[in-house]
Amino acid sequence: MSTNNSLVRQVELALNESFGSSSATPRYFFSPARVNLIGEHIDYCGGLVMPAAIQFGTYILARPNAVGRVRMVSLNQPGTIEFDPNADAQRQNPPIWGDYVKGVFAEYRARGERLPALDIAIGGDIPGNGLSSSASLEVGIAVMIEALTGYQTSPERFANRQAISWLSQHAENHFVGVNCGIMDQGAIALGMDQRAMLMNCSDLSVDYVPVELGDYCLMIANSCKARMLADSAYNQRRAEVEQALELLAPVFHIDNLCQLPLASLQAALDLLPDPIIRRRTRHVVSEHHRVIDSGDKLAAADIAGFGQLLNQSHASLQQDYEVTGNELDTLVGLAQAQPGVLGARMTGAGFGGCSLVLLRQDAVTEFIERVGAGYRAAIGYDAEFYPVQIGPGAEEILSNTILPEAL
Ligand code: GLA
Repeated sequence: MSTNNSLVRQVELALNESFGSSSATPRYFFSPARVNLIGEHIDYCGGLVMPAAIQFGTYILARPNAVGRVRMVSLNQPGTIEFDPNADAQRQNPPIWGDYVKGVFAEYRARGERLPALDIAIGGDIPGNGLSSSASLEVGIAVMIEALTGYQTSPERFANRQAISWLSQHAENHFVGVNCGIMDQGAIALGMDQRAMLMNCSDLSVDYVPVELGDYCLMIANSCKARMLADSAYNQRRAEVEQALELLAPVFHIDNLCQLPLASLQAALDLLPDPIIRRRTRHVVSEHHRVIDSGDKLAAADIAGFGQLLNQSHASLQQDYEVTGNELDTLVGLAQAQPGVLGARMTGAGFGGCSLVLLRQDAVTEFIERVGAGYRAAIGYDAEFYPVQIGPGAEEILSNTILPEAL
């Protein structure tokens, strides 16, 4: 994956302009964004999901300072943020970007680690909503802390990355106060170049799957709709599926909803009195099985079959889980109708944000023209399109690998 050199240079400038030049050499880190191929809103039900780390992400530069505090600046947000790395920090209400960083520092403090005073500059190129800029920041900060302190949650690489994922999710759940599942942090900490991950969200075990699509490719279509009220609707979905589990667990002897066999789905639905909870349950159980089927289709090079599962996933998220909304439905509907498209679905939390399209490589130009025009006519503003390039998880980057580039 190639480094966004000009962005790194801007982050370097921001570090020096905000905190003065220093004889301490900064260390450089890159933490990617993620796209989820399939398996939506089931990570918090112990399901299988299929995310991948992508080319966009967050660059973090950090160097020690002598002022005893962490001082941070972001190219993407105004102002600077300062806190004592070894004292309990307060979060803002509503939370702001610095709270994701403070939350991760708090996790290492809770493990007994003494944390360094640092000047940190951050810059991201993650477009729009829905590709998980918050998990990208959390995991990047965790990787940075471990690199700078030598502290390791586990000496073994994979176990270490699993631990970083749980720790970052814990920071978001308990410090920031967003009740997210484990998929985003897992994808960003455990990502592998050119591989999607068949990830089991109950134990974070991963099968790395090659995404070999022949003449086809994956593209992200961004609705450019801000995710209004997404956090409260997200928490409400979580509460609804917890309610379903409470009723079904004693009857079917399951610990999470995704353990319910497809063959028992109808019997389970018949036991649920509330039609909304029934629809939520139907989405969760059917989506989990679509992920299993997607793994099989990809392994068998059945790209068209995989595309159909993407379409079914969107319909289920639209009708049963109700997390799409007009913009995403319009974008996905237009995408599905284009020549050369095998499938399309919303990706991420929904309520705005991005969608994923599987299409023939030679149809891309026409696709962007037609869907772009149709979306603008229907919604009144532009969608954006980016190819999916699957890259590795969060890592330190060696500064001598960054090409000098004129700004
Ligand atoms: C957000 C959350 C994830 C996951 C997705 C939906 O991205 O952070 O944990 O629940 O929504 O699949």
